[in-house]
Formats: sequence, structure tokens, C-alpha cells
Amino acid sequence: MPLLLGLETSCDETAAAVVRDGREVLSNVVATQHELHVRYAGVVPEIASRAHGERVMPGVQQALDEAGITLPAIDAIAVGNRPGLVGSLIVGVSAAKALAWSLGVPLIGVDHVRAHLHAARISDSLAPAPQPPAPAIGLVVSGGHTTLYRLERWRDPLRLGATIDDAIGEAYDKAGVILDAGYPGGPAVDKLAQAGDANAPGVPELPVSMLKPDSLDFSFSGLKTALLYAVRGLPVGRGKSATFERDAADLDPRQKANLAAAFQHAAVEAVIRKLKRTLKQWPDRDAAPRALILGGGVSANSHLRRRVLAFGEEHGLSVHLPKLAFCVDNAAMIAGYAHDALVAGDHAPLDLSVVATARA
Ligand code: KG4
Ligand code: ZN
Repeated sequence: MPLLLGLETSCDETAAAVVRDGREVLSNVVATQHELHVRYAGVVPEIASRAHGERVMPGVQQALDEAGITLPAIDAIAVGNRPGLVGSLIVGVSAAKALAWSLGVPLIGVDHVRAHLHAARISDSLAPAPQPPAPAIGLVVSGGHTTLYRLERWRDPLRLGATIDDAIGEAYDKAGVILDAGYPGGPAVDKLAQAGDANAPGVPELPVSMLKPDSLDFSFSGLKTALLYAVRGLPVGRGKSATFERDAADLDPRQKANLAAAFQHAAVEAVIRKLKRTLKQWPDRDAAPRALILGGGVSANSHLRRRVLAFGEEHGLSVHLPKLAFCVDNAAMIAGYAHDALVAGDHAPLDLSVVATARA
């Protein structure tokens, strides 16, 4: 029953967690930096790295305390070493190396996007999370990624498609700015959309991007621009002196909520249609998918959760959604995902590097 300590510092969350046996979360500490980035309406890399530097070791101590253990009980250190902001990743990876070296335990480097797929398989309560049957469709919907996978062996997901421009969470965050809904935009737009009606008279239908007929890739930048024009009207004038007819402050609360609902409908509809396409294009008819696994910050979205549960029911798939605490960035998914690598002896060297991009 190995105990892993996980560290996560890829973006704007400094996180540490202790996980037993890959599934049982003994502690899950997340220090969010939202308060540092809110006035820039986006993550400022330099500010993020500095904050990770201040918070990472206190986070580790808190994770150990909450798990009721001390460092010598740890069997391995897992760390997200890709993808992410390089300066931020370096903080977590350096801390993990120091811990692994001083304790004399293995270091495991984890791909953060793949780890999001593990989030639905972990539990912090006495009831273990149900384990999905294979083969499965994996879908990561986060601030940096929108990626579809075919999952046969859990450690070896096959990428089927990904966004060609904005990630879905990025589009939500920009929608938050356009609608002046709050930061981060995802949860704020979700809440606003719940009070709105996409089918109300006068609400424009926003585009659902499907790309080429057989494409499993995603595109969300057109949706974002369509929302911008729906809120502000068309640009007046050209170049730097261009202005808009109006902005979010000129809309009444009902109009704003209805536009948020129209955005949410189009964003989620794009995901559902790509899932349908994935089923249709599944190469092996004799080994059809039996489960759908979601992960990433946007898997916390109320409308997406409802729609994928209905999709699973319609197509006979068991749907595995992370608990809300494990949707957004956390270190429990990192420590949990690293368990199989530890057992397989797939340890990282102490010169483990950080990489800005996800594994193919
Ligand atoms: O997985 P995550 O914490 O970070 C990345 O790996 O990127 O995802 C963060 C993203 C942000 O874009 C945030 O706005 C979005 O997840 N998000 C949501 C919701 N909660 C978080 N988007 C839509 N609806 C939500 N309820
Ligand atoms: Zn993430």
C-alpha cells in the first residue's frame, strides 16, 4: 500500500497531496492564487512562480499534517513536470527532487493532462471511487487543454483529438471577461448561465464548431468572437481607433444571463457532438467503449455534467466524473496517477526536466 506525496505547480494552483495505493486520498491541499491574478484577468507567469516558491513547502507540511503522517512514511514523490508554465513547473519539480533525494525515495514525473484523467478514479471518503471498465473514452476539458483520448491501458492513452486554438476553459475565462461576470470566468459564467435561457426571444444562436466532417479536434475561438460581437455589437471604425457599439455594462442582467446560457449551450454542445463522432469512428467494433471519463476544471461545469450523464445513459456508457475538488488542478490526481509508474519501476532521474507541452 505505497504512500505517495504529490506536488502540482503547473499554473496558478500550488498543491500537495498524500495518496495511498493510487486511489485513497489522505489529504489534498490546494492554495489557489486567484487573488494575485484577478486584477490582470489572467495568470501572470512571473507572479505565479514567485507565489509557488513561497507556498510549496508550507503546502507539503499541511498535506502531511492532514494525512497524519511525517515525511519518513512517504514511499515516493510524484510531481507534475509537464505541461505548464515553465517557471512555475520548475518550483514544484525542484522541491520534489530535493524531497526525493533527501528521503532516498523514487521521483516520478507526471504529465498533468493525463493525470486529469485519473481524477475520477480517486476518492477522499470511505467509499472508493468506482473504477471505469476499459476500453473507455477519455476527455480532458481544462483551462489549457481540450483533449479526447482512447483509453485501453490506463498508463498509455491514445490522443484522438485536441483543440486547434483556445481550450474550452480559456474560452469560458474570456467569456467571463466579455460578460464582466467575474474571475475566473468558468465558474462565474456557469452560474450566470444557470439563471439564463438560451432560447429566449432575441438571444442569438452561437456557433458550434465541428471542423472537418471526420475531425475529432475542437475549436472555440469562433464561439468566443461570436459572443464578443453579441455583447458589444459590431466594431465602429477601424484599426486602433475602433470602438464597439456597447459593452456588458449596457446589458440588463437578464440579457447577460441569456447570453451566458447561449455561450454555455454552444460550448457544451460542441463537446457532446465530438463525443458522438468518437463513438461513430471508434475503430474496433468488437471492443466498443464501455465508459466515458472526464477530467479538468471544466468537468465541474453543471451543464456539461448533466449532458455527459445523459449521453452515457443514451449510449450505454458508464460515466465517471471527478468529485468537484478533483476537477480543478490538484496534487491528489498527480500522486494517484503516479502509483502505476512507481509499481512498474518507471522512476525519473534527479535531473528530470520540465516541459511546456503535453505528451503526444
Ligand atoms: O484543470 P484546471 O484547474 O487548469 C488547467 O489545467 O488548465 O482548469 C481551470 C479551468 C479554468 O479555465 C476555469 O475557468 C475552468 O477550468 N472552470 C470551469 C468551471 N470551473 C472551473 N469552466 C466552466 N464551468 C465551471 N463550473
Ligand atoms: Zn489542469
